[in-house]
Amino acid sequence: MKEKDNDSSKKSSLMTRRTFLKGGALTTAALSTGVLGAEVGEAHLALEDYPSALKRATVTLKVNGLRHRLEVEPRTTLLEVLREELQLTGTKKGCDRGQCGSCTVLLNGRPVYSCLSLAIEAVGKEILTIEGISDGETLHPVQRAFVQEMGLQCGFCSPGQILATVALLGKNPSPSEAQIRQALAGNLCRCGAYPMIFKSVQTAARLR
Ligand code: FES
Ligand code: FES
Repeated sequence: MKEKDNDSSKKSSLMTRRTFLKGGALTTAALSTGVLGAEVGEAHLALEDYPSALKRATVTLKVNGLRHRLEVEPRTTLLEVLREELQLTGTKKGCDRGQCGSCTVLLNGRPVYSCLSLAIEAVGKEILTIEGISDGETLHPVQRAFVQEMGLQCGFCSPGQILATVALLGKNPSPSEAQIRQALAGNLCRCGAYPMIFKSVQTAARLR
């Protein structure tokens, strides 16, 4: 009799734990997949039950002088919006974790890693990408300098290097080599074209 009681209480405790785990797993799955207001098994979560951080927001971003109205999740990065929503693929996705600088764009003139910037953080700011620096068919002086000095090999890092240079020359028109190295320290070049890149920056300073 005693044994039976133990079995029954063990069973009931297992059931309770199972029910709990099932509910928890369903809730986690619903939250992680962003299925808002979905009915999943026994767990029904209404839209208002979800953290507001999971809902989509409508934002207006000013990119290269043009305003774009977009619907984004609060977690969407600026890089994702530029490449996947606006097809501005000149901004490159390298590491996607703030280590290479290939995704560099200018926000109000300052270089930022767009893979680490949320799209909603860019609201109200001037976003400049590599597509926005030339004047129609006429290249920007920094672009011309990179072409003239062959400041690239594969070219994957070039948009980031060029925008970092535009930002540098915007605040320091005639930087020393040490200042150039420091300003471009966050932009890695897997091809190791650094000597030509630094020379391009010096030439760009003269062209401007
Ligand atoms: S892709 Fe952003 S830093 Fe590498
Ligand atoms: S030119 Fe190839 S990564 Fe820099």
